[in-house]
Amino acid sequence: MYTQSDLKKLVNKAILNLSYNEEAEKLNDPVKYILSIGGKRLRPVLALMACNLFSDHIDEAIVPATGLEVFHNFTLVHDDIMDHAPVRRNLPTVHSKWNLNQAVLSGDVMAFIANECFLQTPPQFLLKVFKVFNKAAIEVCVGQQLDIDFEKSAIVSDEEYMRMIELKTAALMAASAKIGSILGGADDKDSEILYEYGKNLGLAFQIQDDLLDIYGDIKVFGKIVGGDIISNKKTIMLVKALELASPDQLRQLHEQFALKDFDPESKVKKVTEIYDQLNIRNLSENLANDYINAAFSLLGKVNVPVDRKTELVNIGNSLIGRDN
Ligand code: IPE
Ligand code: IPE
Ligand code: MG
Ligand code: MG
Ligand code: MG
Repeated sequence: MYTQSDLKKLVNKAILNLSYNEEAEKLNDPVKYILSIGGKRLRPVLALMACNLFSDHIDEAIVPATGLEVFHNFTLVHDDIMDHAPVRRNLPTVHSKWNLNQAVLSGDVMAFIANECFLQTPPQFLLKVFKVFNKAAIEVCVGQQLDIDFEKSAIVSDEEYMRMIELKTAALMAASAKIGSILGGADDKDSEILYEYGKNLGLAFQIQDDLLDIYGDIKVFGKIVGGDIISNKKTIMLVKALELASPDQLRQLHEQFALKDFDPESKVKKVTEIYDQLNIRNLSENLANDYINAAFSLLGKVNVPVDRKTELVNIGNSLIGRDN
């Protein structure tokens, strides 16, 4: 069986082999930049593990899996514009290093480079794989819209938050696991289980990402600390805090999130203090754990020998308690 690190290497090699239309020189610089500055390569690795669960031959899955990574990086370039994020993977974001127009256009071309990768799917699986990918791609956009809409909502319920992260983050992880399983020759029943497994991992993953935004070590996490508080994002912590706060804490939270001119550091500090008073960190970590465990129990139902499942268990465990 391939390990996480074997698969990451294969994906990085495929990224170096991507082909570009070089006619307009500047278009590709940000693409090559964002694809070369790190990243966990989680989605293609997940896809290749799901493929390897059913088949010993993963070669033909590598390029389509790489398409998932290119698409993911496209969403990051545009997400950083929408979130006004200056830093990613410890380096300037594309729109900060170049400019807005460059980030929009280079992001756009990445979406189509991803399609080029999907078009290299073996013909018997092409339509099926592309349908799963395209559905997820639209869902990511819907989720991102909800994420932006929620910045302006006074209250967002647990259900609304979970649906938003299911769309913006878990949909692509679910699709990755399902696409990998299709490429490995899984039947429809097992492919659907892999989809649900990936979705649960994705939900846990976004909850952990929300946690790291405050409690992460900036040098390892590679994004600025408190960015979500600064831009009024409805994270798992804020949703829980709005639910559990005393009237006085609620007043303080509303006050902080209504500020127009503010010192970012002091806003992050005050909001974090309320999270800490309410023990929100613990609550959120437990919730992420519940989703990882749900993913594992789904994996238990897949119709392959248990020893083939080890890597998919390991990757699930590595998402919890991760620090980047
Ligand atoms: C960041 O994704 C965006 C989220 C869905 C939270 P990753 O944390 O997978 O980012 P990289 O690719 O490893 O940098
Ligand atoms: C990312 O959510 C979701 C997508 C990129 C589609 P975040 O906005 O939380 O991701 P980071 O924290 O900037 O990586
Ligand atoms: Mg965002
Ligand atoms: Mg963001
Ligand atoms: Mg985040």
